[in-house]
Amino acid sequence: MERNKKRKISIIGSTGSIGTQALEVIEKLQDKFEIIALAGGKNSELLKQQAEKFKPKYISSSCEPEKLLGNHNAKILQGEEGLEQICSNRENDIILMACSGRIGLKPTLTAIKNGIDIALANKETLVMAGDIVMREAKKQDVKIIPVDSEHCAIHQCIKDINQVDKLIITASGGPFLHKSIEDMKKATVEQALAHPRWNMGKKITVDSATLMNKGLEIIEAHHLFNIDYDNIDVVVHPQSIVHSAIEYKDGSVIAQLGLPSMHIPIQYAITYPERFEGIKSKSFSFAETARLDFIAPDFEKFPTVKLAYQAGRTGGTSTVCLNAANEEAVFAFLDGKIKLYNIYEITKKMMDEHTVIQNPTIDEIFEVDKKVRELTRAYIQKM
Ligand SMILES: NC(=O)c1ccc[n+]([C@@H]2O[C@H](COP(=O)([O-])OP(=O)(O)OC[C@H]3O[C@@H](n4cnc5c(N)ncnc54)[C@H](OP(=O)(O)O)[C@@H]3O)[C@@H](O)[C@H]2O)c1
Repeated sequence: MERNKKRKISIIGSTGSIGTQALEVIEKLQDKFEIIALAGGKNSELLKQQAEKFKPKYISSSCEPEKLLGNHNAKILQGEEGLEQICSNRENDIILMACSGRIGLKPTLTAIKNGIDIALANKETLVMAGDIVMREAKKQDVKIIPVDSEHCAIHQCIKDINQVDKLIITASGGPFLHKSIEDMKKATVEQALAHPRWNMGKKITVDSATLMNKGLEIIEAHHLFNIDYDNIDVVVHPQSIVHSAIEYKDGSVIAQLGLPSMHIPIQYAITYPERFEGIKSKSFSFAETARLDFIAPDFEKFPTVKLAYQAGRTGGTSTVCLNAANEEAVFAFLDGKIKLYNIYEITKKMMDEHTVIQNPTIDEIFEVDKKVRELTRAYIQKM
């Protein structure tokens, strides 16, 4: 980022948890950014307000274009085509991919094809097509800078991946860390959404309750840092102060610490490699923090993590299946159709029945994604 030049940025998913926090960061660093486009899903009211305040050239949503008419001068785009138009606009220096679920994959590939750097929050993109995305990014010399706090931490710790022995990803443990499996089986949607540390979108919050989020992050880390699954560990750290660590071959461990705020990794990703005071609200104090706990994860209580390791090691469309079945099951849980624990059982069943395609093309990935979603929905309906 050149100090005196504004970085041109677009945000896909500007109305969500990451997107709105990114706009708070940008508001603090107004002289550093120019917003080219903002895109959201159904929350047209918030998108219009954002357009009035931040004056992007384009806005796009999945609603009818009339719903975006308002007191702004942005050109209105719509749906997947709108995302394609934004992500192929080479005015952008960087695009923040902050939508949730599979929606992020196509626009990410389009941006890469157009040589635009990506600040990646949408982990599902790498879970679905990590090999293709990272290969294309390398080919086009595009930077993929992680927004997820754990991967952002690792990004900050690593100098040379060849000297790293393992990655240690921390997990807060979510709302059921100190509850029994029986309590988890009875969990309501409200309890699953009551995350003790992070205020996030519903899908990722449920994933954090089942620890599938950590599973998806293991796969994300494998692709981002090109490291074997055997060299990725998870440790539960309820205070969410140590955001992750790496162990070098000589036994030296480097960790990244900070207060639990997504503003920090978002700002890091969109200003990389520069650093600014920006949104920083408070200095970190070891004395105030006082204690940091670390606990081995309970894979019996949270079997989703094992399932993710299994999918990752199997490779090919196995992770596409994991992601699609889990996402559909999470939606069904949020709709009150199934219990929290069923999410794991359904995802496992879909994975057991899935015929893996190795080295899939992008079309095969989308086909498998669609098929697994249909099968998952049909299975849930019969439960
Ligand atoms: N939240 C966190 O702290 C956090 C941390 C690390 C990683 N992540 C990852 O970041 C991603 C976003 O998470 P989140 O918590 O911010 O989710 P969220 O609050 O649910 O936000 C999702 C965003 O995606 C938008 N969206 C939905 N459908 C869309 C479509 N068809 N086209 C364009 N935009 C669409 C939503 O728009 P509408 O609201 O207008 O429908 C919203 O802006 C996820 O992949 C998550 O795993 C999040």
